[in-house]
Amino acid sequence: MFSKKIAVLFSGSGSNLEAILSKIHGKIFNGVKLEVAVTICNKSGVYGIERAKKYGLETIIIENKNFATREEFDTALVNKIKKHGVDLVVLAGFMRILTPVFTSQIRAINLHPSLLPLFKGAHAIKESFESDMKVGGVSVHWVSEELDGGKIIAQRAFEREKDMSLEAWEAKIHAIEHEILPETIVEILTNN
Ligand code: GRF
Repeated sequence: MFSKKIAVLFSGSGSNLEAILSKIHGKIFNGVKLEVAVTICNKSGVYGIERAKKYGLETIIIENKNFATREEFDTALVNKIKKHGVDLVVLAGFMRILTPVFTSQIRAINLHPSLLPLFKGAHAIKESFESDMKVGGVSVHWVSEELDGGKIIAQRAFEREKDMSLEAWEAKIHAIEHEILPETIVEILTNN
Protein backbone atom coordinates (compact mmCIF):
# COMPACT_ATOMS: atom_id res chain seq x y z
CA MET A 1 0.00 0.00 0.00
CA PHE A 2 1.27 3.42 -1.02
CA SER A 3 1.27 5.79 1.97
CA LYS A 4 1.97 9.47 2.57
CA LYS A 5 3.07 11.09 5.79
CA ILE A 6 1.92 14.38 7.27
CA ALA A 7 3.35 16.56 10.03
CA VAL A 8 0.85 18.81 11.83
CA LEU A 9 2.06 21.91 13.69
CA PHE A 10 -0.27 23.67 16.15
CA SER A 11 -0.16 26.13 19.05
CA GLY A 12 -3.38 25.78 21.04
CA SER A 13 -6.74 24.07 21.15
CA GLY A 14 -6.01 21.85 18.16
CA SER A 15 -9.55 21.48 16.86
CA ASN A 16 -8.18 21.49 13.33
CA LEU A 17 -5.59 18.88 14.28
CA GLU A 18 -8.47 16.74 15.57
CA ALA A 19 -10.42 17.25 12.34
CA ILE A 20 -7.40 15.92 10.44
CA LEU A 21 -6.98 13.00 12.82
CA SER A 22 -10.63 11.97 12.78
CA LYS A 23 -11.24 12.47 9.07
CA ILE A 24 -8.08 11.33 7.30
CA HIS A 25 -5.47 9.81 9.67
CA GLY A 26 -4.96 6.13 8.86
CA LYS A 27 -7.53 6.24 6.06
CA ILE A 28 -7.16 5.41 2.38
CA PHE A 29 -8.01 7.88 -0.39
CA ASN A 30 -7.50 7.06 -4.07
CA GLY A 31 -5.38 4.08 -3.02
CA VAL A 32 -3.13 6.23 -0.83
CA LYS A 33 -3.02 5.75 2.94
CA LEU A 34 -2.59 9.04 4.79
CA GLU A 35 -0.86 9.09 8.12
CA VAL A 36 -0.14 11.86 10.62
CA ALA A 37 3.41 10.81 11.43
CA VAL A 38 4.27 13.62 13.80
CA THR A 39 2.61 16.45 15.72
CA ILE A 40 4.64 19.43 16.89
CA CYS A 41 3.57 22.24 19.22
CA ASN A 42 5.38 25.41 20.27
CA LYS A 43 3.66 25.62 23.68
CA SER A 44 3.41 23.18 26.57
CA GLY A 45 0.14 22.44 28.33
CA VAL A 46 -2.24 23.27 25.48
CA TYR A 47 -5.33 21.19 24.72
CA GLY A 48 -4.19 20.06 21.28
CA ILE A 49 -1.59 17.87 22.97
CA GLU A 50 -4.41 15.90 24.66
CA ARG A 51 -6.29 15.58 21.39
CA ALA A 52 -3.20 14.07 19.73
CA LYS A 53 -2.80 11.63 22.64
CA LYS A 54 -6.31 10.26 22.03
CA TYR A 55 -4.97 9.07 18.67
CA GLY A 56 -1.79 7.62 20.17
CA LEU A 57 0.40 10.53 19.09
CA GLU A 58 2.95 11.96 21.51
CA THR A 59 3.40 15.60 20.50
CA ILE A 60 6.90 16.97 20.21
CA ILE A 61 7.11 20.26 22.09
CA ILE A 62 9.57 22.84 20.84
CA GLU A 63 8.96 26.01 22.83
CA ASN A 64 9.85 29.15 20.93
CA LYS A 65 10.42 30.97 24.22
CA ASN A 66 13.56 28.87 24.69
CA PHE A 67 15.21 30.29 21.56
CA ALA A 68 16.94 33.63 21.23
CA THR A 69 15.94 34.24 17.62
CA ARG A 70 13.22 33.19 15.19
CA GLU A 71 15.91 31.63 13.00
CA GLU A 72 17.18 29.39 15.79
CA PHE A 73 13.65 28.24 16.59
CA ASP A 74 12.96 27.58 12.91
CA THR A 75 16.20 25.59 12.60
CA ALA A 76 15.12 23.31 15.46
CA LEU A 77 11.70 22.92 13.85
CA VAL A 78 13.12 22.14 10.42
CA ASN A 79 15.56 19.56 11.83
CA LYS A 80 12.76 17.77 13.66
CA ILE A 81 10.49 17.78 10.62
CA LYS A 82 13.26 16.49 8.33
CA LYS A 83 13.95 13.58 10.69
CA HIS A 84 10.44 12.30 10.08
CA GLY A 85 10.64 12.47 6.29
CA VAL A 86 7.08 13.68 5.75
CA ASP A 87 5.40 14.45 2.42
CA LEU A 88 3.54 17.52 3.65
CA VAL A 89 3.65 19.86 6.64
CA VAL A 90 0.33 21.32 7.77
CA LEU A 91 0.15 24.47 9.90
CA ALA A 92 -3.14 24.08 11.75
CA GLY A 93 -3.41 27.04 14.11
CA PHE A 94 0.37 27.34 14.37
CA MET A 95 0.74 30.91 15.59
CA ARG A 96 4.31 31.70 14.63
CA ILE A 97 5.81 33.97 12.01
CA LEU A 98 8.22 31.77 10.06
CA THR A 99 11.54 32.89 8.61
CA PRO A 100 13.17 31.81 5.32
CA VAL A 101 15.03 29.16 7.36
CA PHE A 102 11.68 27.36 7.44
CA THR A 103 9.96 28.57 4.28
CA SER A 104 12.89 27.81 1.96
CA GLN A 105 13.25 24.21 3.18
CA ILE A 106 9.79 22.96 4.06
CA ARG A 107 6.79 22.33 1.82
CA ALA A 108 3.93 23.47 3.99
CA ILE A 109 0.32 24.64 3.84
CA ASN A 110 -1.40 27.02 6.24
CA LEU A 111 -5.00 27.46 7.30
CA HIS A 112 -6.24 31.05 7.62
CA PRO A 113 -9.64 32.18 8.91
CA SER A 114 -10.46 34.77 6.21
CA LEU A 115 -10.79 35.13 2.47
CA LEU A 116 -7.18 36.01 1.66
CA PRO A 117 -5.67 38.33 0.66
CA LEU A 118 -8.07 40.17 2.97
CA PHE A 119 -7.45 40.23 6.72
CA LYS A 120 -3.97 38.77 6.98
CA GLY A 121 -2.45 38.33 10.44
CA ALA A 122 -3.54 37.09 13.83
CA HIS A 123 -6.88 38.93 14.14
CA ALA A 124 -8.58 37.82 10.96
CA ILE A 125 -11.79 36.57 12.56
CA LYS A 126 -12.51 39.76 14.52
CA GLU A 127 -11.39 42.08 11.72
CA SER A 128 -13.46 40.32 9.07
CA PHE A 129 -16.47 40.30 11.42
CA GLU A 130 -16.10 44.01 12.11
CA SER A 131 -15.77 44.87 8.42
CA ASP A 132 -18.86 45.63 6.39
CA MET A 133 -18.33 42.59 4.18
CA LYS A 134 -21.38 40.47 3.53
CA VAL A 135 -19.32 37.30 3.31
CA GLY A 136 -16.64 35.72 5.44
CA GLY A 137 -14.58 32.64 4.79
CA VAL A 138 -11.54 30.47 5.11
CA SER A 139 -8.40 29.99 2.99
CA VAL A 140 -5.76 27.31 2.70
CA HIS A 141 -2.52 28.47 1.07
CA TRP A 142 1.08 27.43 0.49
CA VAL A 143 3.45 28.85 3.06
CA SER A 144 5.85 31.42 1.67
CA GLU A 145 8.14 34.05 3.12
CA GLU A 146 5.27 36.53 3.22
CA LEU A 147 2.95 36.07 6.22
CA ASP A 148 -0.39 34.64 4.98
CA GLY A 149 0.78 35.54 1.49
CA GLY A 150 1.56 32.30 -0.38
CA LYS A 151 -0.40 30.94 -3.32
CA ILE A 152 -4.02 30.16 -2.43
CA ILE A 153 -4.98 26.48 -2.78
CA ALA A 154 -8.58 26.45 -1.55
CA GLN A 155 -11.18 28.91 -0.25
CA ARG A 156 -14.72 28.67 1.01
CA ALA A 157 -17.06 31.56 1.75
CA PHE A 158 -20.27 31.92 3.75
CA GLU A 159 -22.89 34.65 3.87
CA ARG A 160 -23.31 36.97 6.81
CA GLU A 161 -26.65 36.31 8.46
CA LYS A 162 -28.81 39.17 9.67
CA ASP A 163 -27.66 40.37 13.12
CA MET A 164 -24.96 37.69 13.19
CA SER A 165 -22.93 37.72 16.43
CA LEU A 166 -19.15 37.42 16.59
CA GLU A 167 -19.62 34.01 18.23
CA ALA A 168 -21.78 32.76 15.35
CA TRP A 169 -19.30 34.22 12.81
CA GLU A 170 -16.44 32.41 14.52
CA ALA A 171 -18.37 29.14 14.81
CA LYS A 172 -19.14 29.26 11.09
CA ILE A 173 -15.45 29.82 10.30
CA HIS A 174 -14.34 26.91 12.47
CA ALA A 175 -16.95 24.57 10.96
CA ILE A 176 -15.66 25.41 7.48
CA GLU A 177 -12.03 25.02 8.60
CA HIS A 178 -12.73 21.52 9.87
CA GLU A 179 -13.97 20.55 6.40
CA ILE A 180 -11.66 22.44 4.06
CA LEU A 181 -8.32 21.57 5.68
CA PRO A 182 -8.68 17.76 5.62
CA GLU A 183 -10.17 17.96 2.10
CA THR A 184 -7.25 20.03 0.84
CA ILE A 185 -4.68 17.65 2.34
CA VAL A 186 -6.37 14.72 0.60
CA GLU A 187 -6.43 16.65 -2.67
CA ILE A 188 -2.72 17.52 -2.48
CA LEU A 189 -1.48 14.10 -1.42
CA THR A 190 -3.67 11.81 -3.48
CA ASN A 191 -4.07 13.63 -6.82
CA ASN A 192 -0.69 13.25 -8.46
C1 GRF B 1 -7.97 28.60 13.51
O1 GRF B 1 -9.04 29.52 13.43
C2 GRF B 1 -6.93 28.92 12.48
O2 GRF B 1 -7.44 29.37 11.27
C3 GRF B 1 -6.16 30.02 13.19
O3 GRF B 1 -6.08 29.57 14.51
C4 GRF B 1 -7.22 28.78 14.82
C5 GRF B 1 -6.73 27.48 15.39
O4 GRF B 1 -7.73 26.74 16.01
N1 GRF B 1 -4.92 30.30 12.54
P1 GRF B 1 -7.47 25.27 16.55
O5 GRF B 1 -6.25 25.31 17.46
O6 GRF B 1 -7.24 24.36 15.38
O7 GRF B 1 -8.70 24.89 17.32
